[in-house]
Amino acid sequence: MILEVKNLVSGYQNKRVLHGLAFGMEDGEVVGTIGHNGGGKTTLLKTLFGLLSPWEGQVFFRGHEITGRKPGFNVKEGIAYMPQGQGLFPDLTVMENLEISSFGLDPQTLKKRSQQVFELFPILEERKRQRAGTLSGGEQRMMSVGLTLMHEPTLMFLDEPSLGLAPRIVQLVMENIIEINRRFKNSILLVEQNFEQVKRIAGKIIVIKLGQIVFSGVLDPSMDKRKLWKYF
Ligand SMILES: Nc1ncnc2c1ncn2[C@@H]1O[C@H](COP(=O)(O)OP(=O)(O)O)[C@@H](O)[C@H]1O
Ligand SMILES: [Mg+2]
Repeated sequence: MILEVKNLVSGYQNKRVLHGLAFGMEDGEVVGTIGHNGGGKTTLLKTLFGLLSPWEGQVFFRGHEITGRKPGFNVKEGIAYMPQGQGLFPDLTVMENLEISSFGLDPQTLKKRSQQVFELFPILEERKRQRAGTLSGGEQRMMSVGLTLMHEPTLMFLDEPSLGLAPRIVQLVMENIIEINRRFKNSILLVEQNFEQVKRIAGKIIVIKLGQIVFSGVLDPSMDKRKLWKYF
């Protein structure tokens, strides 16, 4: 298993948000996480990545405990996180964004990894001297996804990559995520409101409601949102 989560409890100050979550992810697997706003999806990713310290429970990455480990270590060990919303530096150029995200890499590796990002997102190469904040919404999202690839992650946490994008662009970003999974054979925990998109990409699904997993299992094509609705 690449990721194993046991009895995860987490929250903010005295507000308990996650009430004992448990699940696992296999190598190469894409797991979709859906649930209403405020259910704790973002809190889950933040806690797994080490931006929040869990109150209880354990997180294992490839069998080693990483509970509460700092994000910098996680990045170095191959875990990447794309936060909900922006996830880039708007005042820096595309190239500068890639450079700042490649902290600790030597120049050759930086070049190679940037090239990998440009292969996936050719538009970013065309715009590499443009400030990221002046890119279109879709391009900015591709930039945010691209930045997570600089350390060649084997495990990616993506928080709502389709948020706020037009349907055509959502489609494009999702295809990019499928391509990343195919090319790098990494595991992706994808938080996504758009169930139809989750169905296209993910092999398994986790439904989170009020800080608890109310359904988890294999996604079969016959599943529709109405069937899952009862869990919401
Ligand atoms: N920084 C914060 N401080 C206090 N409460 C927060 C903070 N961020 C989120 N919350 C609360 O935690 C709960 C879960 O939020 P979140 O994880 O963002 O849910 P989701 O990503 O599923 O929409 C919500 O009740 C939200 O108001
Ligand atoms: Mg969220």
